[in-house]
This record gives sequence, structure tokens and C-alpha cells, in this order.
Amino acid sequence: MENRKLAYINTWGCQMNAHDTEKMKGLLSLVGYDFTDKQEEADLILFNTCSIRQKAEQKFYSTLGMMKALKQKKPHIKIGVTGCIAQQEGDNIHKAFPFVDFTVGPQNISMLTDALEYDSYVSLITENKQLHTNNLPAIRSDQRRAWVNIMYGCNNFCTYCVVPYVRGRESSRPYGSILAEIGQLAEANYQEVTLLGQNVNSYNGGCPFHTLLEEIQKIDRLKRIRFVTSHPKDLNDELINTMATHNKICKHIHLPLQSGSSRVLKLMNRKYTFDEYIDKVNRLRLKIPDMAITSDIIAGFPTETTADHKETVRALTEIRFDGIFAFKYSNRPFTKASQMEGQVDELVKSERLKEILELQDNISEEINKRMEGGTYAVLIEECTDTTQNLYSGRTQTNKIINFNSPRQLAVGDIVDVKILNGYRHSLDGCIVNT
Ligand code: SAH
Ligand code: SF4
Ligand code: F3S
Repeated sequence: MENRKLAYINTWGCQMNAHDTEKMKGLLSLVGYDFTDKQEEADLILFNTCSIRQKAEQKFYSTLGMMKALKQKKPHIKIGVTGCIAQQEGDNIHKAFPFVDFTVGPQNISMLTDALEYDSYVSLITENKQLHTNNLPAIRSDQRRAWVNIMYGCNNFCTYCVVPYVRGRESSRPYGSILAEIGQLAEANYQEVTLLGQNVNSYNGGCPFHTLLEEIQKIDRLKRIRFVTSHPKDLNDELINTMATHNKICKHIHLPLQSGSSRVLKLMNRKYTFDEYIDKVNRLRLKIPDMAITSDIIAGFPTETTADHKETVRALTEIRFDGIFAFKYSNRPFTKASQMEGQVDELVKSERLKEILELQDNISEEINKRMEGGTYAVLIEECTDTTQNLYSGRTQTNKIINFNSPRQLAVGDIVDVKILNGYRHSLDGCIVNT
């Protein structure tokens, strides 16, 4: 019998990283690995890391530190670091943690299995301008919903952000390759795809983004199309019209605002003012009244005053996002903002973040409560309790709905659910028409 080895992969960060893990699994499987969630029994331990904020980085280093004892006990195991911290730090990781066998950057994951063949430490973190991960085999974590890369890297250089440095220059994947992958996924019974890129609105792999969406809409059997992330500066009327007229495109957009103060937005190099942002939100809502809009907010960017912060608070009240991810500003290597004067005190950042989150929680709850009594199409993502037929799924607008059913349902089915209660981060309901 074939002697397969076991790999354990710990993944941090965004969907892009999660999907990179799926591709690394695909590659590892080809060279004889199966996967385990028990670190102790693994022959290979991979950390697929994120460096977007300092906290993410610290968590990784403390986890990595704990590997020393394991490696002493079982010297034959291999320990590798991949993802954005691997790219950012390169050999520094090995210098501080000599038991690390290799580092592989996000632009080099196609060479992961090469790294395994070295007997001594190796670092593969070169910039790779080719579309580096197209068509790699993936072992996907979900059988009905799939992530699909449409572009890599980022050219925007928001002054707080490390991504352009660790993921390299923006490059779009040719649309033919994207359509072929999604076609295969649909054939394999996938119902939903999420297109991944740091700024999907600037996609230019042979056609504009809205045309790509229109082509994906034509793929038989596929039911839902999502995408992340949209940059407000590139959101145009063509995309809004396409979203309005194509029923598979989910009525949800993640449109990071970052700050309500145009002064701060300028310092962030976001390339839009608050008024321009609001104008796009209004256009979206005019064409698609039930559109869900979510956002990202940074609290305490360098020089942010109380007045700037109040503008963010006012922006949240005015726009009424369905939900947000909000974070304290964090200094990142290479970035302009980390060199700026006027860094905001940690305590002040925490207070501002708290105010933002509390306000948004109330808004989200109000919005979700308004859905009570309505009936929505829900794609089932999970059976949460088999004995009581409890399920969890999402509406097109990306709301998480927990519901029960008198009969057994299948993950991936789309069913009508009547909403009984709306809460801050989810809703519950019961199935109709069974
Ligand atoms: N490409 C996406 C965002 C990717 S990073 C976009 O431009 O919208 C995801 C989010 O992390 C960002 O929207 C931002 O809100 C947050 N973020 C990035 N760098 C950060 C930093 N240095 N400190 C705090 N939050 C940060
Ligand atoms: Fe970072 Fe800005 Fe690029 Fe988003 S658009 S990844 S925030 S630099
Ligand atoms: Fe994603 Fe974190 Fe890298 S958010 S792109 S894994 S820095």
C-alpha cells in the first residue's frame, strides 16, 4: 500500500489565503500527503500566514514558537511558513526560529512541493510576474461554494497597507481561464462562486469586470456569483447596471470606506472623497434598492482627530451599512503611514473602535429586524443539527439565516425561508412551501 504522509495546515487571513491553502492541499495531495487537524500526528506543518495587522503577526509568532518543542521531539517533521509573513520576512523567520525548514511566498506556491525536497533550509519568495497560481489543482473545503482567483496583487498602495508589498503588482487572470474553471465547478455541482481579487473593479484580463460577470452568468447550473473586494474608486455604472440586470449576481457589495473624513481618506491614498463614496452608494441603491452594502473601517489612522472620528461615526449613521469589519489602525512594515507623524494613542484607538462597533451593531440589528416576516431564498451551507433538522445558509444579500425544516434538506439547495427574528449578526426563521 502506498505510504501517505500527513500534513497539518494552519491558515490565517483573508479568503485569498484560505483559497491558497486549498491549492497547497491540491499540490501536496499529488506528492503523497493526506490532511489532519491534529498537529501531533503531522509529518508536515504549514503556517499560511497573514500580515495585515500586527495582531495577526503576533499570533502567528507565538504559535510558531510553540513548535520548537515538537520539532525537538520529532526532528523528522517539516515545518514551513507560507503566505504574507513569509513574503514580508523571508530569511528573518529562519534566523529567529532555526527549526523552520522553508518559507514560500504567496507568489510561489506552485513551487511548494519543490521546497519539500530540500534537506536544508530554503526560501522561495521571489517576485513572480506570471499568473502564478492559475490552474493549480485545489482541494476545496466546501462542496457547493468555491473561491476563484480573478486577479492577484495590488497596485493601489493605500498608505496603511502591506498587501502591495507582499502580494506584488496587480495582474488579472485571462478571462478564458476563469470561465473554464467556473464551467468545471458548475459541472461538478458547485452552486456558488466567489471571485477573488484585492480590487475586482479594475479587472482587465481581456474584458472589463462587468463583462466577465455577464459571461459567468451564462454558465448553466451555476446559481450564485459573489465577488470581493470592490474598490470604491473603480466602481462604475456598468457594474451597477450589470448587477441590477443579472439575477445570479448576488445583491451584496463589500465596499470598504475606511474613514468618513475626506482629509484622512486623502492621507490614506484611497483616491475618493467621502462625497464621491456617498454618490456611488446612492447610485447603487437607486438601481438596486435591496442591495446589501458592507464595509471596512480603520479607527485611529495617524493624525485622526476627534473631529475626523466623528465624521466616520456620522458616515455610518448616514449610510447605514448592513455590516462592517472595523479595526484599530496598525503600523505595517514598508508602509508610508507607519512613518507618519501623529500616531494615535492605543487607548484612543480602542475607544473610537468601540464606539464604531457599538453603533454599527445597533444599525445592523435594526436592518435585520426589518426583514422579520419577509421570505427570502437561502442557499443552505450547513446542517447544524441533524436530529432536529436545523440548517444555516445565506440570502443573496449575504445574511446568515438559521432555520429549521420539517424534512431533511441538502447542503447546496436553495430554499425559501420566512424570517422570524433578526439579530445583530444573523437571523432565524423557518422554511416555507415544503
Ligand atoms: N483590498 C481591499 C482590502 C484588503 S485588506 C480593499 O482595498 O478594500 C482588508 C482590510 O483590512 C482593509 O479594508 C482595511 O480596512 C484593513 N487594513 C488593512 N491594513 C490595515 C492596517 N495597517 N491597520 C488596520 N487595518 C488595516
Ligand atoms: Fe491594501 Fe488598498 Fe490594495 Fe486594498 S486596495 S489591498 S487596502 S493597498
Ligand atoms: Fe490576505 Fe492577510 Fe495577505 S489579509 S493578502 S493574507 S496580509
